[in-house]
Amino acid sequence: MHPSTALAHPNIAAIKYWGNRDEALRLPANGSISINLDRLFTRTTVSFQPSLPFDELIINGHEATWPALERVSLMLDLVREKTGITARAEIVSENNFPSGAGIASSASAFAALALAASKAAELDLSERELSRLARRGSGSAARSVPDGFVEWQMGSSDEDSFAYSIAGHGHWALSDCIAIISSSHKKTGSTEGHALAGSSPFQAARVEDAPRRIEICRSAILKRDFEAFASIVELDSDMMHAVMMTSQPALHYWLAASLAVMQAVREWREGGLSACYTVDAGANVHVLCPEKEAEEVAIRLRKISGVKDVLTANVGGAARIVEEE
Ligand code: DP6
Repeated sequence: MHPSTALAHPNIAAIKYWGNRDEALRLPANGSISINLDRLFTRTTVSFQPSLPFDELIINGHEATWPALERVSLMLDLVREKTGITARAEIVSENNFPSGAGIASSASAFAALALAASKAAELDLSERELSRLARRGSGSAARSVPDGFVEWQMGSSDEDSFAYSIAGHGHWALSDCIAIISSSHKKTGSTEGHALAGSSPFQAARVEDAPRRIEICRSAILKRDFEAFASIVELDSDMMHAVMMTSQPALHYWLAASLAVMQAVREWREGGLSACYTVDAGANVHVLCPEKEAEEVAIRLRKISGVKDVLTANVGGAARIVEEE
């Protein structure tokens, strides 16, 4: 068996995934929509080696142990089950973005792992099957498999909960200017956060309204209607954070500088600059804008007190197999 190397981009959700109907299978409480981020990527090589006693995971040059290793081994077990392979594997993974920058790497990591592991095991999976496999490692990873602008349909079972491209990366020239506000490790990660979503009385309302938001967002993307896109993206992010803040225990991810950026972005938009914000399970603020505005947005973001750095990415492609260097 030959080693295989795959590359996948992280994605930023325009309509968020928060809460699962089935934690083990990662069947989400609602569908979601995201945009892949070019320039940022995880590159992962998997080689099954009969001589290895355990799976061995190396992330950015350092050997990783529990809990990262366990999560990775669980995904490899799914591949082993499908193929009858019993050999353990060596997994070497690198992110080209700083791991301390507070940018979630689980989406790109599990999309690249699903692709590299299935190829190394000589499994020829369709994009849909790959997305389903990636979903088992990290929900948002299902969305890093297809190209460009992606929708993850919640589905009703393991079989029909997968993501597909609604428009390719060339469809609309958007940028994500990520205002880095905190690089410290988040106290409560997404996996634990999803499990708390149902404890907020607002989650049921957020989930019930999700098909409407998805419809508006999908149609804004297809029409390249930035105004419509901006207002639904900000509403969806605010709704998710309202759930987070009102779950038990409460999750507060925003810092003072996160709020300062969100307020500034709303003012810039009123002043005619096309930009909108969205925030994941952390303090950093993603500012989405047309590519031609990205330089101006980054300049303005850097002037806001508490913004330590700005990383800019455009719309990225699908997860893919790459040649080894
Ligand atoms: C706030 O996919 O990171 O970024 O499935 O437990 O790995 P796990 O969770 P994850 O959750 C992402 C949450 C989010 C919103 C989103 O990306 O849709």
